[in-house]
Amino acid sequence: MASSESGDRALEALLQENRRFAPSEEFRAQANVRDPEIYQRARQDPEGYWAEQARRLSWFEPFREVLRWEPPHAQWFVGGKLNAAYNCVDRHAESDRRNKAAIIWEGEPGDQRILTYGQLQREVARCANGLKRLGVKAGDRVTIYMGMIPELPIAMLACARIGAVHSVVFGGFSAEALRDRINDAQAEVVLTADGGWRRGQVVPLKAQVDKALEGASSVRHVVVVRRVGEAASVNWRAGRDLDWQEWLASESWHCEPEPMDSEAPLFILYTSGTTGKPKGIVHTTAGYLTGVETTTRMVFDLKDRDVYWCTADIGWVTGHSYVIYGPLANGATTLMYEGTPDFPDRGRNWQLVEKYGVNIYYTAPTAIRAHMRWGTEWPERYDLSSLRLLGSVGEPINPEAWMWYWEHIGGRRTPIVDTWWQTETGAIMISPLPGLTEAKPGSATRPLPGIEAEVVDLAGNPVPPGAGGYLVLTRPWPSMLRTIWGDDKRYQETYWSRFPGRYFTGDGAKRDEDGYFWLLGRVDDVINVSGHRIGTMEVESALVDHPSVAEAAVIGRHDPLKGQAIAAFVTLKEAVDTSEALKQELKAHVVQKIGAIARPDDLFFAAELPKTRSGKIMRRLLRDIAEGRALGDTTTLADPAVVERLKAQYQEEA
Ligand code: WT7
Repeated sequence: MASSESGDRALEALLQENRRFAPSEEFRAQANVRDPEIYQRARQDPEGYWAEQARRLSWFEPFREVLRWEPPHAQWFVGGKLNAAYNCVDRHAESDRRNKAAIIWEGEPGDQRILTYGQLQREVARCANGLKRLGVKAGDRVTIYMGMIPELPIAMLACARIGAVHSVVFGGFSAEALRDRINDAQAEVVLTADGGWRRGQVVPLKAQVDKALEGASSVRHVVVVRRVGEAASVNWRAGRDLDWQEWLASESWHCEPEPMDSEAPLFILYTSGTTGKPKGIVHTTAGYLTGVETTTRMVFDLKDRDVYWCTADIGWVTGHSYVIYGPLANGATTLMYEGTPDFPDRGRNWQLVEKYGVNIYYTAPTAIRAHMRWGTEWPERYDLSSLRLLGSVGEPINPEAWMWYWEHIGGRRTPIVDTWWQTETGAIMISPLPGLTEAKPGSATRPLPGIEAEVVDLAGNPVPPGAGGYLVLTRPWPSMLRTIWGDDKRYQETYWSRFPGRYFTGDGAKRDEDGYFWLLGRVDDVINVSGHRIGTMEVESALVDHPSVAEAAVIGRHDPLKGQAIAAFVTLKEAVDTSEALKQELKAHVVQKIGAIARPDDLFFAAELPKTRSGKIMRRLLRDIAEGRALGDTTTLADPAVVERLKAQYQEEA
């Protein structure tokens, strides 16, 4: 098992965690899912179970076959026709929910906008007409690079309405990262904003798009939302660039939704893998919607009267599935906030919970740990009694953070759902059902109904309770990724070749005597920094791209706040001297190549990197050094003295 010793130690502590939290009678009595038989029923007839969930969507044509599984390719709800925007907007706009808030939006400066289902329908239709006028057709790709403003979901849903495939790129990615993603998807239209607000400062977006499009590009048009106005200077390329308002001014408020095949791609979302090149994860219409509609309803116990808030940025999958598609497919009210939790002060999130009467709150462990550090005086200033359910996602939640969340945010009253899933899974896979499951702090508990998971050893055999292994999903599920955009071979190799017929998650896990899953973190070359996935190879490529760098090895080391921090070991070209200035320059270079999320926390100049006799860098030993542990097995090293020297040097400098 490739998981690090530190992971094992953390798990030992976790497995001694024996506090249990059963849902209150009061919560249980009102929960959307109350009957434990649901697990059994789904196991006996998974396809029947998923067909039943899928039928909650509105179909233009019913499906004829639930699943066609030709491993590793799945088709779900074969022959059906539907439209994602129709399901998320129109069917509610045409019901008694017409004047219900679909999206409550608050900007960082405190401005607000509430879009009812009826209004959202019109905005989406108008934007869809604008896209059509630009020549965008079903199957075409549209890149969206915006901050958290209402035009972002409007743009996504407008794409869905006409069958175009959206590719949302997180606004924190650099121009170069954006360019790679635009080129990979061969997008012809980019929707963006002049800038966004972040801690009172403007984050330039249009300027990054301009840089990304320098040289040859597939992009014909760039549409720009004026979010920050005077605060950003924006260059204008006549013929290519359009102002959002002007673009849509004369468009009709009506647009027929395109009936799409169940398996039509809905979106591409790029995520990091083990190579330097990000993967375009492809999700399709019916399966994805079924997955997010079902999980939002069951895991978050969503009710019509709820105000629901997932704090994720829509640039990540959590935002796609649980800010937009899942809640809206359920006709719920979803809150969207533009800014960060510490601006203008550290009470911002709790102020919003009080102001809007938020009932369900979903965030990441790294955020919870930040709030812990900032102290209880912030949540104590606000009335949080509207909260009835809390969620966690993105990385394992340490029991200490779980307990703090439960006590200081949930008032010892609310269930907590620790939800394990991935960009690739589309929807939550392992999580408590809040009206049924007894929670153990630190465990994501059990796979949801209709999902089957196992922990296996290298040979693919299930490991006994308490033993570590690899987490696999053993049967296809509706919201699974269908392929990697333009690279089906990589899809097959990454996910399905290690354990043929089973989906390999890239995560290590253990299962306890009760069958609960305890996640241990990634076992591949992916780091999880503040719940964001970053490939070590991506950062390494960015570093060796700098003219002074000869070689780079990047690892994730434990960090009490972020989960993992990025540590880079760099050897320089001959005749280049180490200096603090160069260190800063190299960190800035990574920011320029990828974005601020990939900025190395530590950068360490090494005379040599520890390598095997065949020349492979032994990152495992670098992790040992960075986490201050005794060095593991060094017998395969070409020169064991290298790593000893490095260790001594690291201890001196760190
Ligand atoms: C990786 C997926 C889809 C969620 C947002 C991140 C880690 C996610 C948990 C959890 C332990 C978790 C895994 C996974 N992860 N949720 N509840 N407990 N680990 O999506 O960027 O695709 O990353 O995040 O390591 O593989 P992502």
